[in-house]
Amino acid sequence: MNVLVTGGAGFIGSHVAKALSRAGHVPVVFDSLHNGKQEAVLWGEMIKGDVRDTAQLSEVIRTNGIEAVIHLAGLIEVGESVKDPLSFYETNTAGSLSVARAMLANGVKYLVFSSTAAVYGSPVSEYLKEDHITQPVNPYGWSKLAAERIFLEASATGGLRVVPLRYFNAAGADPEGELGENHNPETHLIPRACLAVKGDIPALTVFGDDWSTPDGTCVRDYVHVTDLASAHIKALEYLVKGGESRPFNLGTGKGYSVREIIAAVSEAAHLPVPHAFAARREGDPAVLVADSGDAKAILGWQPEHSSLKELCTTAWKWFSRVE
Ligand code: UFG
Repeated sequence: MNVLVTGGAGFIGSHVAKALSRAGHVPVVFDSLHNGKQEAVLWGEMIKGDVRDTAQLSEVIRTNGIEAVIHLAGLIEVGESVKDPLSFYETNTAGSLSVARAMLANGVKYLVFSSTAAVYGSPVSEYLKEDHITQPVNPYGWSKLAAERIFLEASATGGLRVVPLRYFNAAGADPEGELGENHNPETHLIPRACLAVKGDIPALTVFGDDWSTPDGTCVRDYVHVTDLASAHIKALEYLVKGGESRPFNLGTGKGYSVREIIAAVSEAAHLPVPHAFAARREGDPAVLVADSGDAKAILGWQPEHSSLKELCTTAWKWFSRVE
């Protein structure tokens, strides 16, 4: 299939384009390059544009014979969303509305949407399933939940079929070393631990050691970006085979604490991770772990690269590369 990948120059999008190409599809990347990087577009053509420009999207869909869309373009910084919520609604929500409009105008049916575990808010159960209450605790989560809603409404009235994929903590890097994380500023735990090892930042700040978790630090479900990428292909196949519109969680079902991550990065790098403890970060839940049973049973997805060791060794290989 000819597949439009919005945000295809970003961290997850670039891995998705690679996975599409490997699976025999033709990715066409559409990215504003505000956060994405041209050098990450190694599979498929790169078209510069903003997803809010419905006319340009329509034109790209028509001229490239697009048959499906994987929509990842969006703003991702939770902290930034608290400071500037409207930008998040503009890009993530209005941008998604524009994608839906352009698809409907051109008869493109299949959509895989990059959503997030942030749609759940504070967990009320140990493992989060897709039917867990959706009560986001920041504008980022709300902007993605509203986008999910738009797509599901468009699906209910016919025309679109959509799978929102709710990622837990995306991490790691392409095992073949071709792609990796390149955020600016970089706020995520594993990349910051790598940067601390390299001395690019003085130390990793650990946000709180007084959480009600086994070692006092927050627990998250880290899932390898290559496994996330493969889930997009599975979701696309599911839709083409007639699967109903519905969200799927993507995580491993196993949580690791910040201390465990620090130890694993240190082992991967064969060097200590300089770190210091500080106060809790606002908006952080203590524990966030997925129940991805449905993605496994229904999509036939299986994480293959998400062991703690592979997450940290691939991330370290990427961050320690010589450019
Ligand atoms: N952490 C630190 N120090 C840092 C960075 C993070 O201690 O410098 C801790 C955080 O407090 C948290 C854990 O490491 O407990 C993971 O934090 P990240 O910033 O790497 O990721 P988040 O869990 O905050 O959020 C990620 C994505 C969001 C997404 C969410 C869904 O960034 O976009 O997962 O679970 F919504």
